[in-house]
Amino acid sequence: MKNQFQILIVEDEAPNREALAMLLKKAGYEIQVAASGEEAFERLNKTTFDIVVTDLFLPGINGIEILKRVKKESPDTHVLMITGNASAETAVEAMKEGAFDYITKPINFEKLKLLMAKALEKSLLVAENTYLRQQLRGKYRFENIIGTSLAMQNLFSRMEKVVSTDSTVLILGESGTGKELVAKALHFNGPRREKPFVAINCAAIPADLLESELFGHVKGSFTGAIHDKAGKFEQANGGTILLDEIGTMPLHLQTKLLRVLQEHEIERVGGSKKILLNVRLISATNADLENEVRLGKFREDLYYRLNVIPIQLPALRERREDIALLAHHFLLKNCQELKRPKMTIAPEAMEALENYSWPGNVREMENVMERSVTLAERSILHVEDLPPQFGAAKPQPGEGNQGMPSLSPKGIDMERYLAGLELHLIREALKMANGVKARAAKLLGIKRTTLVEKLKRATGQTD
Ligand SMILES: Nc1ncnc2c1ncn2[C@@H]1O[C@H](COP(=O)(O)OP(=O)(O)OP(=O)(O)O)[C@@H](O)[C@H]1O
Ligand SMILES: [Mg+2]
Repeated sequence: MKNQFQILIVEDEAPNREALAMLLKKAGYEIQVAASGEEAFERLNKTTFDIVVTDLFLPGINGIEILKRVKKESPDTHVLMITGNASAETAVEAMKEGAFDYITKPINFEKLKLLMAKALEKSLLVAENTYLRQQLRGKYRFENIIGTSLAMQNLFSRMEKVVSTDSTVLILGESGTGKELVAKALHFNGPRREKPFVAINCAAIPADLLESELFGHVKGSFTGAIHDKAGKFEQANGGTILLDEIGTMPLHLQTKLLRVLQEHEIERVGGSKKILLNVRLISATNADLENEVRLGKFREDLYYRLNVIPIQLPALRERREDIALLAHHFLLKNCQELKRPKMTIAPEAMEALENYSWPGNVREMENVMERSVTLAERSILHVEDLPPQFGAAKPQPGEGNQGMPSLSPKGIDMERYLAGLELHLIREALKMANGVKARAAKLLGIKRTTLVEKLKRATGQTD
């Protein structure tokens, strides 16, 4: 069978170009060549390539610009960079922009062929949807969301309730609390699991491009719209779309999104054909959307449409019971990845972890453990092996320190301190009462409804 992979080679030096073309032709690929970035752009207008092999340094339009354009128009095309001098910086920039890999001159053809085979294998895997999804399903089962605290139990039970439905979900929580993880778990455990899961980070895309990213565009609808392009909504059809950092969406797009949600159909930018949508919508934000609504920055009607089922993720400091569990989980995971023998955490190091405030939540825990396992020389992790902030870890106000707070010259945030103390007492009472809220309330001399209210405010749980 003829090999249907299409390869574009961009190289200004003729001998190199010819040599590459000959070699890859021999390997059975369909080859097109371009002697400049400009020529490459012309070829890109006509053909969708599987792989673009491009020199980084070209006289006019350079390799990075080619890479950027390819990745924007055809994200599944792999770009291999050839760099003249081994300038690590530009190579890193290329990788950041989404290059598959880079190879330095003089080109080692065997290595190049190997890289190409790897890239093509990856494309095949992407095409082999079911295989990939099965793998993903393993990764995003609820069991992969770690936590046994009350807040997490509430989260799981809420997820159970919505996982098999099409309800619109709004996931709220600080950075690193697992919003994307929860969104994926809902998709890959639900009835749409065989269909696409498409995520778009509204904050990462410039406002003027967001509309076409979401809804697609037709050729010629604006400068740079060289092809017809399907937007994320269309790509997600039949499956789930995650609109991440929805709070940053500009107002005019909010209006458009609202219309799409009401009418269940989209039109590509500049197009007139209506496309019927069957998409489950999950949105996520770490912003206080209600406040954004009050400030007039977020449409109230859209807010209500998105917030059908709110799922609030607790901050890690609000579920300190889970810290040890998560620390061990990431410790072992990193040991496995680094192929080191299993490690343990010394009690004083665990205490430091448990007392820390974790502003970056689970993501920070993940990073701390990766760093610590990588750098630790012994098999027991000590405080010295943790990043500097743990050396000075002190108990958080109201969490664990039973005495009166000492007021430092810097002052103290009394509201927060008192809220922390209150939450601590409620937790203790709940523990003592085996989780029975009425009994816990009695222990504290407050009404059950008051306890529920306070707990709700502190952890964001509504159950
Ligand atoms: N409960 C959890 N159990 C295991 N891993 C978790 C948990 N919560 C988060 N993680 C991991 O922490 C990292 C951050 O999670 P995720 O990207 O879902 O957070 P996020 O809330 O979307 O953050 P951001 O607001 O910064 O985008 C991921 O690697 C995720 O797998
Ligand atoms: Mg996220």
